[in-house]
Amino acid sequence: MRYLASLIAASLLLAGTSHAEEHEGRRLAMPAKVSAAWKTECGSCHMAYPPGLLPGRSWNALMDNLSHHFGSNASLDKGTEAEIRQFLLYASSDRDTRPAKAAPGERIVTRITDTARFADWHEEVRADVFRRQSVGSAANCMACHRGAEQGNFDEHQVRIPR
Ligand code: HEC
Ligand code: HEC
Repeated sequence: MRYLASLIAASLLLAGTSHAEEHEGRRLAMPAKVSAAWKTECGSCHMAYPPGLLPGRSWNALMDNLSHHFGSNASLDKGTEAEIRQFLLYASSDRDTRPAKAAPGERIVTRITDTARFADWHEEVRADVFRRQSVGSAANCMACHRGAEQGNFDEHQVRIPR
């Protein structure tokens, strides 16, 4: 219940971010209050990816399949899962809180790095840069965007490690 109340409070704050979204990417709208479970559970193996990086449909598909999570088992108890799902959908890139299920045979993209937006943002970054030892993979946003977990991807603050 307390969480719901904070979501409602956060929605008022999100309503004021339309200006920031004109420069999509620089700063993804982050709710003023983030789910603590999201931060700890989804930030334990990799950075906690901000919800604005994927549409609601993608988060839903990902949360439906946590026991087979990119080769890992990331399953959670039901309550925690529900809280995190609600947070992700609520602040997703399209704010789709009731996403449609996949059509038969349809594959919903669940990797941020597989989205068209990600390719657009990194048009000028050569593929081998993402493979550098100091970077690891394209999914390791923090290697180049220090404020990634806070939703800050300002291109003027990017630093590519050697
Ligand atoms: C047990 C470890 C573990 C936990 C816990 C975990 N993940 Fe992951 N996650 C992974 C692994 C492993 C990958 C794949 C990494 C790779 O291939 O680069 C991944 C990849 C991802 C990706 C795709 C990144 C990309 O664009 O390539 C997303 C999105 C993601 N996780 C979200 C979540 C969310 C949301 C949670 C919490 C519900 C979560 N993860 C919890 C291990 C975990
Ligand atoms: C190897 C370093 C590197 C990694 C890793 C990386 N990026 Fe970037 N990113 C860049 C660079 C460099 C730019 C600026 C590109 C340009 O100016 O054309 C950029 C731009 C962006 C932008 C657009 C910023 C703006 O102001 O328009 C977003 C959003 C973004 N990245 C998100 C991500 C996310 C999300 C991840 C992880 C899933 C990620 N990046 C991983 C280097 C990286």
